[in-house]
Amino acid sequence: MSFLAERLSRIKPSPTIAVSQKARDLKAAGRDVIGLGAGEPDFDTPDNIKDAAVAAIRRGDTKYTAVDGTDALKAAICGKFKRENKLDYKLDQITVSSGGKQVIFNALLATVQPGDEVIVPAPFWVSYPDIALLCGGTPVPVNCPQNNRFKLRAEDLEAAITPKTKWVILNSPNNPTGAVYTAAELKALAEVLLRHPHVWVLTDDMYEHLIYGDAKFATIAAVDPRLYERTLTMNGVSKAYCMTGWRIGYAGGPAPLIKAMAKIQSQSTTNPSSISQAASVEALNGPQQFIAEHNVKFRERRDMVVAMLNQVPGLSCDTPDGAFYVYPSCAGAIGRKTPQGKVVASDDDFVTYLLEAEGVAAVQGSAFGLSPFFRISYATSAEALRDACTRIKRACEALK
Ligand SMILES: Cc1ncc(COP(=O)(O)O)c(C=O)c1O
Repeated sequence: MSFLAERLSRIKPSPTIAVSQKARDLKAAGRDVIGLGAGEPDFDTPDNIKDAAVAAIRRGDTKYTAVDGTDALKAAICGKFKRENKLDYKLDQITVSSGGKQVIFNALLATVQPGDEVIVPAPFWVSYPDIALLCGGTPVPVNCPQNNRFKLRAEDLEAAITPKTKWVILNSPNNPTGAVYTAAELKALAEVLLRHPHVWVLTDDMYEHLIYGDAKFATIAAVDPRLYERTLTMNGVSKAYCMTGWRIGYAGGPAPLIKAMAKIQSQSTTNPSSISQAASVEALNGPQQFIAEHNVKFRERRDMVVAMLNQVPGLSCDTPDGAFYVYPSCAGAIGRKTPQGKVVASDDDFVTYLLEAEGVAAVQGSAFGLSPFFRISYATSAEALRDACTRIKRACEALK
């Protein structure tokens, strides 16, 4: 009998974290590696937010707080939801955790019974299926093809719903594709969900502020308030506020669900860091101008990466509206041979080849549930991106 629990065999380590680690290891071993795997902004946390953390330490805000967040942070979150999303939540409808990932974990652990199904539109953020599996549920991936800009269509959602469906997870702007759902597209999904009152919606709005051009952010509980009573609206400070290491995520939702999630957290990690919570109050209530400034840079990088990749033989890349990822197709490279005579049979082989031949670390599409693609994070300097795209071109030109 194994010492390790059976549930561990159901999941795999996060492939995106694995790629970043591999890039770090190769760099430490002296290889010239450009890491394009990380899902975090290269910008530093703004000083006003850091100062708020220092002030919290000096003030002695260094003790346990209420399990699912201080009233000050919950009030700031209520204000944010009202101001930016026109969503009304009271303090007892807000939960705060150590990152958005823990919010999802708490929600699924509190609700998913063995055999319950969780619909995850694919490509999906790598952690959704594995969190569902850890909680005893069954992830149900639904293909969202490139020709629909990687977005879930109402008819595909309808076809995926069964009596066992507990949740559908929506994510816009999307990791890994950068796709942004319009309000009209969410409305069409809402119409389907209204016909299936047993299905709850977890909307992961983590990349809300990272949108370029004319696309507008929308979130489903605001688009169709009839879903408000069964929607968990999740968000966090990690991406827009460059606070990945501070570990603060939050959500608004029905009070009984929020209470159940707090019960789980009270027996696992207790409150998120008191200092990070104080910093997050400043993030949400303080100046927001730097977000637009970062977005100008992100947009320039996106445009450069898309243009360069579309000149590479075997690749094709759409221009996404948000987040900081592109999800190019490598269909034209599949079946070709590397200079060493190895056939590139999958996107896994393709990213391995990029890393070995040119020291470029990207993430294979299979990790996100849709092949043959790969994900590049452009949350790194324009210089590194230019170099990486030049290397990718050289690698692809060398394929026979
Ligand atoms: C779509 C999505 N949701 C949630 C998270 C998790 O965010 P956090 O770092 O706050 O746990 C990430 C992080 O990569 C993400 O890409």
